[in-house]
Amino acid sequence: MSPDLNLPVGLFDSGIGGLTVLHALRRRLPRENLLYLGDTARLPYGTKARDTIIRYSQRATQKLVECGVKMLVIACNTATSAALPTLRRQFAPLPVMGVVEPGAEAAVAASRNRRIVITATEATIAGGAYQEAIRRRCPDATVIGRACTLFVSLAEEGWTDGPIAEGVAARYLRDLFADGPERPDTLLLGCTHFPLFKDALRHVVGPDVHIVDSAATTAQAVETELRRLGLLRQAEEDGTSRFLVTDNVARFMRSGGYFLGEAPREDAVALVDL
Ligand code: DGL
Repeated sequence: MSPDLNLPVGLFDSGIGGLTVLHALRRRLPRENLLYLGDTARLPYGTKARDTIIRYSQRATQKLVECGVKMLVIACNTATSAALPTLRRQFAPLPVMGVVEPGAEAAVAASRNRRIVITATEATIAGGAYQEAIRRRCPDATVIGRACTLFVSLAEEGWTDGPIAEGVAARYLRDLFADGPERPDTLLLGCTHFPLFKDALRHVVGPDVHIVDSAATTAQAVETELRRLGLLRQAEEDGTSRFLVTDNVARFMRSGGYFLGEAPREDAVALVDL
């Protein structure tokens, strides 16, 4: 039996960062209903062990499946790198998409000299999923991973530009972008929070480096997959966005505003337990 096309696309993230993916989906697929789960009680995932991240991701997915979704998007780089194969197996035949493959695809398409830097959380860099996805597409690529942990807290505080953000970006990345023949030409933002730092990062890497983020390319990949599976919603009116969070609704609303441009509507956010 084919699923109800009015069912939402479910997205989950460790907290608020995945709102960058929701935002991109909203723009690309305005007719779709979206249900976002932010696991704010367990945030951050990026410093946790792989098994823990997988366990948390299974619980988040289970909750969305109970609510009823026609597709799952893992809107978190850390969870995608650790848990995508497990979730695909466990929740089949639900279509499950992550952010790593679309991000890797975009980075490879952007790079001319095949020298690519990935910035992400510790767990994403250590897991190696991005490095593997890039090398699969471009075996002779030089791929350098750099964990930029502090960006996560800065983004949630709304400190994404100015001297503090630029100083942190420089401390993490300046050495990798020093002038010379080895200089990478592409910086892949492999964490949901990092697109907010585009200006600060641009300041550090210079005007000639391609800064690629996976949110927009993931939205494109989700559209392609929904179309391929015949799951696109057929409706005249725009879809809705609803939010489930596992802790502190007020903080989610406040920090969420930095990611979405405006805070989610209060009546669209509910507290849940996993
Ligand atoms: N959402 C996470 C990611 O994209 C960043 C925040 C966290 O560490 O949980 O990797």
